[in-house]
Amino acid sequence: MSRSRFDAVAPQYDAGRPGYPDELYDAIEELSGAFLRGSRVGDVGAGTGISTRGLRRRGAQVVAVDHGALMLAALRRRTVDAQAVLADANALPFAADSFDLVTFAQSWHWVDLERAPREVVRVVGPGGAVAIWWNTSDTGDGGWLDEHRARLQSAGQRAIGVRFETAWGSIPDAFSGLDVGTVRVRWERTVPKEVILDEVRSKSYVEELGAAEATAFVERERTLLPDGPLRQPFVTALAVVRIPG
Ligand SMILES: C[S@@+](CC[C@H](N)C(=O)[O-])C[C@H]1O[C@@H](n2cnc3c(N)ncnc32)[C@H](O)[C@@H]1O
Repeated sequence: MSRSRFDAVAPQYDAGRPGYPDELYDAIEELSGAFLRGSRVGDVGAGTGISTRGLRRRGAQVVAVDHGALMLAALRRRTVDAQAVLADANALPFAADSFDLVTFAQSWHWVDLERAPREVVRVVGPGGAVAIWWNTSDTGDGGWLDEHRARLQSAGQRAIGVRFETAWGSIPDAFSGLDVGTVRVRWERTVPKEVILDEVRSKSYVEELGAAEATAFVERERTLLPDGPLRQPFVTALAVVRIPG
């Protein structure tokens, strides 16, 4: 059995999920005090490689880590020369001081908050950093996204955003005694409706509905969403933890 709930929706994940803007990578460099170019990065919870490819575009030497075999297979298909390791974030198979930076893009809320912080601090060298971030929807302008989010909220078995809020709030305690800098980056993408539908299908709380109901939900959204292209605004919340040198 797969260890990642995302394995079942790897193609939709890769096709539908947003990437991250340049400003996010600029902010990582600013808050960590180090350039990405040439740095050794462990991208944990790399999934199909959306964050891995963003970091590589900035010149980082990235090792992608995920416990989902099908997510990693999709990553390897898209980025054939990527170094990808099937492993658990809570028991990282790397020696101490293996990385200058460890990243968790949309993945910190899945880890064990006792074990993962210890593992991360172990594999990041002195003077290194940990960057944790999430894309969140920038709703509230009364457009299609607000209504769409309300429907997602009522279809889901748990409130959307709660897991993000809890995980975001956990960071100072998880790395207690270490310096944590935060920033929020606003950005947007404009994409065809089909991309939004793939994104919906890849959501963990839609996947939890079960295959038949999840498909029915997506098909309902196909009829309810306006025809594209659709403007989708985001706020990316970033926390960078600095490990003393
Ligand atoms: C929401 S996806 C994020 C993928 C990618 N970083 C991105 O930016 O889109 C979360 C990923 O974390 C992985 N994951 C969850 N728990 C994990 C763990 N304990 N160890 C390794 N990977 C894990 C899942 O398999 C999934 O691929």
